[in-house]
Amino acid sequence: MLLAGLLFSALLYLPALFRFGNYTVETFYRWWTIHLWVEGVWEMIQGGFLAFLLIRLSGADREVMEKWLYVIVGLVFMAGILGTAHHYYWIGVPQYWLPIGGIFSALEPVALVGMAIYAYAAMRRSGAAHPNGLAIHWTVGSAVFTLFGAGLLGLAHTWPAVNKWTHGTLITAMHGHAAFFGAYAMIVLAMISYTLPYLTRNRSEKGSTLGYAAFWLMIGGMFGMTLSFATAGLGQVYLERIMGLGYLDAQLKIQVHFLMLIATSTIFSAGVMIFIWDFFRTPPKLADEENAADAPLVKHA
Ligand code: HEM
Ligand code: HEM
Ligand SMILES: [Fe+2]
Repeated sequence: MLLAGLLFSALLYLPALFRFGNYTVETFYRWWTIHLWVEGVWEMIQGGFLAFLLIRLSGADREVMEKWLYVIVGLVFMAGILGTAHHYYWIGVPQYWLPIGGIFSALEPVALVGMAIYAYAAMRRSGAAHPNGLAIHWTVGSAVFTLFGAGLLGLAHTWPAVNKWTHGTLITAMHGHAAFFGAYAMIVLAMISYTLPYLTRNRSEKGSTLGYAAFWLMIGGMFGMTLSFATAGLGQVYLERIMGLGYLDAQLKIQVHFLMLIATSTIFSAGVMIFIWDFFRTPPKLADEENAADAPLVKHA
């Protein structure tokens, strides 16, 4: 799954490189790269990481986990292909893309609900077989935050009737931040948190207090940032698209939401800095130490 994801990521970069001379045609194909990356093949990569981590961290059975992985990632991908059309509403392509984009992209969150249930159920049914609670937080958190950012907030503006008002506003940024952080930042941080005790010296397998502080500051900060973008976006849509104010006039009126964005992103950045500090706190384990009796690798191999 991981290999397929990596291979298709490279292949789907190609449509972004073609030049057609016509802006609409170029934009049409560029969305193959952008959309099929985030709502298609990168989901394979996230799904691959997620399944690996869940098998290692919970007592879940590998065969069962693999079977559901194919179902969930397959669902995202199938809905995601025609779901690309939710970027075709206002770029000058024929009207039939409106219902196609609306219907198929609205199906994508179904699979993301499945992914969150998958992670939650693995932990509930098979229990935490591994002491690394911090990695479990990031892993299950990634599935849940993806459901929130990509599933719920994506669905919120994917209907043509809604997107007509919200297209290209801070409502888009609201969804973009929560989706990206949940799906692709958190799963990488989960992998780092899982491997760190194996690769560095003198580190507890359970995860450090600093690591937990970084987790909650980042999650809380990003949630606050999402709310700031959402409130700013609602104001922007109303002032600009309904009242007819100019772009910069509207930006001035929603300034208070940007102050909230600065405050919440400071909390988020504090979490990032603590994560980085925690990462470099202990020295790496050298190759010849790998077989030492106290290495966690030996205990859980
Ligand atoms: C992990 C998955 C996802 C990620 C990382 C993601 C990220 C993004 C980003 C960054 C944009 C802004 C693109 C731009 O610059 O214009 C965007 C746009 C959009 N996304 Fe997602 N997204 C995800 C899943 C979804 C899902 C599942 C839906 C629908 C249910 C959705 C609906 C939309 C729509 C409708 C837009 C266009 C907004 C506009 O018209 O301005 N997204 N997404
Ligand atoms: C200190 C934290 C951050 C701040 C203050 C911040 C702020 C912003 C702002 C103001 C924009 C432009 C929005 C617009 O005018 O449409 C933006 C765009 C964007 N940011 Fe961030 N951001 C932060 C962290 C992140 C993180 C951690 C991610 C992903 C994991 C991210 C992903 C994006 C994306 C994908 C866009 C483009 C969205 C679009 O096309 O609508 N940002 N950010
Ligand atoms: Fe999309």
